[in-house]
Amino acid sequence: MLAALSLPVAVLAAADSAATANTSGRERLSLDRGWLFHLGDIVSPEVKGHGASYGYGKAGFAWGPAGTTYDDGDWRALNLPHDWAVEGPFDAQENLAQGYRPRGVGWYRRYLRIEPAERGRQFELQFDAIATHATVWVNGILVHRNWSGYNGSNINITPYLRYGDEMNTIAVRADAVPMEGWWYEGAGIYRHAWLVKRAPLHIATDGLHATPRRSPQGRWTIPVAVTLKNGGKAGASAIVEVTLRDPSGVLVASRRSKIQVPVLAQAVAQLPLAIDKPLLWSLEHPQLYQVSAKVIQNGATIDETSLNTGLRDMRFDPARGAFLNGRHVKLQGVSIHQDHAGVGVAVPDAIWAYRLRRLKELGANAIRFTHGAPAAEILDMADRMGFLVMDENRNFNISPDYLPQLEWLVRRDRHHPSVVLWSLFNEEPMQSTEAGYQMTRTMAAAVKALDDTRPVTAAMNGGFFGPYSVAHALDVVGANYQVDAYDKFHQQFPNVPFTSSEDTSAFMTRGVYSTDQSTNVFASYDEDYASWGNSHRDAWEAIARRPYVAGGFVWTGFDYRGEPTPNQWPAVNSVFGIMDLNGFAKNAYYIHQVQWIKDQPLVHIAPHWNWAGREGQQIRVMVMSNADKVALLLNGQLLGEQQVDPYRMNYFQVDYAPGKLEALAYRDGKQVAHTSVETTGAAVRIELVPDRGELRGDGRDAMPITVRALDAQGRPVPLADAEIRFAVHGAGRSLGHGNGDPTSHEDEQGPTRRLFNGLAQLIVQSLDDSAGELVVEASAQGLAPARLVLPVRATAPIATQPASAAPYNTVNYWRISPHSDVRPDPNQALADFDMNTWEYGDPPMLHAAQSAQPGYRIFRASFTPRKKLADGSGMLHFLRLAGRAEVWLDGRLIGRKDDYAPAPLRVALPAGSGARQLNVLIEGQQGQRSGIEGVVRIEPALP
Ligand code: GAL
Repeated sequence: MLAALSLPVAVLAAADSAATANTSGRERLSLDRGWLFHLGDIVSPEVKGHGASYGYGKAGFAWGPAGTTYDDGDWRALNLPHDWAVEGPFDAQENLAQGYRPRGVGWYRRYLRIEPAERGRQFELQFDAIATHATVWVNGILVHRNWSGYNGSNINITPYLRYGDEMNTIAVRADAVPMEGWWYEGAGIYRHAWLVKRAPLHIATDGLHATPRRSPQGRWTIPVAVTLKNGGKAGASAIVEVTLRDPSGVLVASRRSKIQVPVLAQAVAQLPLAIDKPLLWSLEHPQLYQVSAKVIQNGATIDETSLNTGLRDMRFDPARGAFLNGRHVKLQGVSIHQDHAGVGVAVPDAIWAYRLRRLKELGANAIRFTHGAPAAEILDMADRMGFLVMDENRNFNISPDYLPQLEWLVRRDRHHPSVVLWSLFNEEPMQSTEAGYQMTRTMAAAVKALDDTRPVTAAMNGGFFGPYSVAHALDVVGANYQVDAYDKFHQQFPNVPFTSSEDTSAFMTRGVYSTDQSTNVFASYDEDYASWGNSHRDAWEAIARRPYVAGGFVWTGFDYRGEPTPNQWPAVNSVFGIMDLNGFAKNAYYIHQVQWIKDQPLVHIAPHWNWAGREGQQIRVMVMSNADKVALLLNGQLLGEQQVDPYRMNYFQVDYAPGKLEALAYRDGKQVAHTSVETTGAAVRIELVPDRGELRGDGRDAMPITVRALDAQGRPVPLADAEIRFAVHGAGRSLGHGNGDPTSHEDEQGPTRRLFNGLAQLIVQSLDDSAGELVVEASAQGLAPARLVLPVRATAPIATQPASAAPYNTVNYWRISPHSDVRPDPNQALADFDMNTWEYGDPPMLHAAQSAQPGYRIFRASFTPRKKLADGSGMLHFLRLAGRAEVWLDGRLIGRKDDYAPAPLRVALPAGSGARQLNVLIEGQQGQRSGIEGVVRIEPALP
């Protein structure tokens, strides 16, 4: 049913069509392309002397690479997302926690041209995340600092912009020396960047608040609140309209209201929507509603935004665990970090889609994004695919630099149906102190003020029972490990919902079947784990057998770089993953899959069956199944049958003989599943298996390609370890590769990669605006090569703010002498401490004649030409000079203009590096205005 409308529907339709015609509406343009990058810090010269000190802190005067005129001509051109740490060497002297990779400081610059016709629009620069501390300048003005690598920056840059040829300079200093974690965090602008253009009166970023609520009587409403900002020149009024479309796109509710927004202020329109026939979001049917908001002025839509949300009722019961829409659900969760093979933390969205799909196939229904906010695109995927998410804040701190990080997280993510828990922290030593309790209480209140529909939790690794335990300030208590404390906690706090927030921490290397710490590898039988952790099977059993434990989050879903616990160099990656860094299954994958997937019969065997030289010796075989009974056969001979132990799994000791080892699974006496492993011959050729059939040619789409070696009968060879050489050409490129070997020091983005236990993964991406074919060629010594041709389909380009070439340097920050009736010394200098006798200015700098005399003024500035123009090939181009002029450089007359009439002037720039001193003496004409009217550019000389 439609909610009451105070305006006729015909008016809405008119506004709709105006919206499509109105090009001055909202645009969200990608800024991923066209950046310049410099690895390493660029330290500006020490500030000394009065003049320099006086100018140093002034707006628009940023020095060095932060400023507008810096020479970045030899910087590397690249596109975002970018992680420079993954490009670096492995180095035993670097931090093991960060994967033995150098981090350091990097600088990014980009140029932006904004058309004069766009004056009046509002411009917001958005960085979705920068590792780790970021400082941002626009046109030499410091506009933003962000002290976390996990949260986004939304920066209103409207006031600082220049229009037309003057061009805008964005400079970012990413300081990855500070760390926020003990895992690989990457370095640089590793998520997307955007430029959002909006009307003066517009909906604020994250200003559409639409979190559904269910009343105790079961009625669903969305109390939509729309925050409007007015960056215009006067107060403004408008109509705000919100609409709600159901999962099939049918308009089911709508509402409008009038709003008045004072100038340079904000106001909130409250527009609650009621939903009559709710279609619930669930893990099996993740149905999404769309909420849209429009700002309508004089019948035209001047701004519009929308989001997806879902109606679901998530409840944590202290005795019986979690309930989604009234149905019990055990959280079968994984904790994950955010790096992937080959690309570090600059993971393309399409590779995230692959990672989440792998988790779905595993049977996971919950994800804890450790230990900080994931990219927004990932939560959209979690909504669409049906996962329950623990959304975690990075920094446990309530000071003014940090609490806004938590508030940003809640504001950004509160509409996602997938997000079911806000996690304030992970394992904070202050978790049982009075101060820790006070901080937690404050943070929980900050969350509730923005979203009181979800419980607040924290991942505690102790401190549950003390008088100041932060557990007293949480809605759901999360325990990391501490299995022994589960029951004690539940007995002492029977009314507090409880979940494992992290568990397991078992060690396993993909494809390895015997542990050998001297080579840093762990067997796949699930018997090696951290002293604070458990095997995959024990951890799950402890959770599964206790109804009051809402669920668990295995540490971890995927391996990640860094934290190679319990090993160290040459081990550089963790081995906690259920999957390796590529998303290839370890045996833990099959263990969890049969525990977690109930509705489909499954059976798996480990290990592979290539044990040449071990004939007649016993091999330990693990069979994993969710059926009642399994039978094992070797070369058709029944070896034995066992009832399935759903927690422990089943083992058989088998005398090795080459051939075919088969497992049959039975339910109620009927065979329901079957699998086998076979002894293969030697590897003879390479195979490339793409994850999907084609790529979109938008320059973003990416996919993993599995690389393996086959024997003469086409069977994958489990222990193949050939070094594969890749060549990628056509409409795509290689982003990098991995093989899951936690000790590999291969260049992740170089031309070769060794197979590790039979597998490697190559990640390819389409080129910008491409179509045609992407061709991958793979070769190796002794193996027949493989060639894969992937269609790249032309798609609508991603709306992008084009990157502009570096502008010509302009000469800025002029000083202007007072008027003089007599010709002064044109090279007259100004005392370094004199801030006030000469004016400051930038073109246009025009002065009327001051007296009957024509009169003179000196215009003085210093500049440093870009290197490529400092060799005598440059020119000073005065776009418009009014009056007669003499141009003096470093005390030498280099050009003159003898006419009074305004005109351009071009003067050859004599060779010379470093800072140059420019003095322009201008003689005005009686009754006329004179001075430097147009900008002064340093350009290549005319041919
Ligand atoms: C936990 C911690 C994780 C990871 C894990 C390794 O204590 O929360 O980030 O370090 O241990 O076992």
